[in-house]
Amino acid sequence: MLGAWSYRALAALLCVTALPAQAQTVKVGAALSMTGAAAVYGASQKKGIELAAEEINKSGALKNIRLQVLVEDDGSTKEQGINVYQRFINRERVAAILGPTLSTTATAANPIAQGAKVPVIAISNTAPKGITDIGDYIWRISLTEAQVIPGAMKKAQQKLGFKSAAVLYGNDDVFTKAGYDVMKRSLEELKVKVMGTQTFAKADRDFTPQLTELKNVNPDILVVSALADNASAIVSQARQLGYKGPIMGGNGFNSPAFIKNAGPAAEGVLVGTAWDSSSQAPENQKFIQAMQAKGDNPDQFTAQAYTAVYVLAEAIKRAGNKTGRGDIKAGLAKVKDLPTPLGK
Ligand code: ALA
Repeated sequence: MLGAWSYRALAALLCVTALPAQAQTVKVGAALSMTGAAAVYGASQKKGIELAAEEINKSGALKNIRLQVLVEDDGSTKEQGINVYQRFINRERVAAILGPTLSTTATAANPIAQGAKVPVIAISNTAPKGITDIGDYIWRISLTEAQVIPGAMKKAQQKLGFKSAAVLYGNDDVFTKAGYDVMKRSLEELKVKVMGTQTFAKADRDFTPQLTELKNVNPDILVVSALADNASAIVSQARQLGYKGPIMGGNGFNSPAFIKNAGPAAEGVLVGTAWDSSSQAPENQKFIQAMQAKGDNPDQFTAQAYTAVYVLAEAIKRAGNKTGRGDIKAGLAKVKDLPTPLGK
């Protein structure tokens, strides 16, 4: 027989165990380019992040942990990126940061996260150097230009047999410059003769002087390292000048916005990608269907952003469902073979 106190203790115990576990909200900052030169990528990224967070929260995969994503506009600039990071880190006390959209912004903002020991997952930074080497809190799920361009260029050469090239690149951006370095090296390796090289700046709108020079050397292929905004203008103007040959771009071209804005001029443009939209992998099919159910056709930037949230959730799991900044960083190091829309 239980005494009166024991009954009360048992009742209290039952009462405690019957309550649902206290939900714990984990803030995640997403620094995305919603305005400026990279705005077309930021819009895609936001959709991917929000879908993934919604799915993860609904699934209960993290038990009582709920991800709360705060999206802020990094303005496609270093300065705004730094401000957003400072707000995320010091005011919002986020557990992790996703982004920023541009490598240029990452080179300025990520040292702040590293200094404050806040884990960052880069979702679209493709400059090979100067991103993850900032420190052990900086991770990325995006393939670099060095991982994509050499293979894409080789494949293109096998198909098209080009022997000479003309090159145009943005020289005021970390990614477009890094892309150019990789393109130059790849062309050398494939023994393609570079007949001319020209540069531009992000704010430029008229590329006809550079393109006229490059068209005049009569290259077999035009190779361009540019963000989507500049890329569509460059390709359109090249066609207006009568250049009919193939054009090869880097990761900046990897946006449906580029195809839409360039229109028929985009015909004959080649670009390597980190995401195979036709992959029949269940994670990819599920991702595409969920996006389409929301009325969106995802692109590579959406797929990468979506994947990063799943990688973050996996890191939290691998950290034993601990959500401290250091726990997440340690968990990220343990993520392995996770099936995602991008592959494992
Ligand atoms: N891939 C581009 C960058 O790294 C968006 O800046």
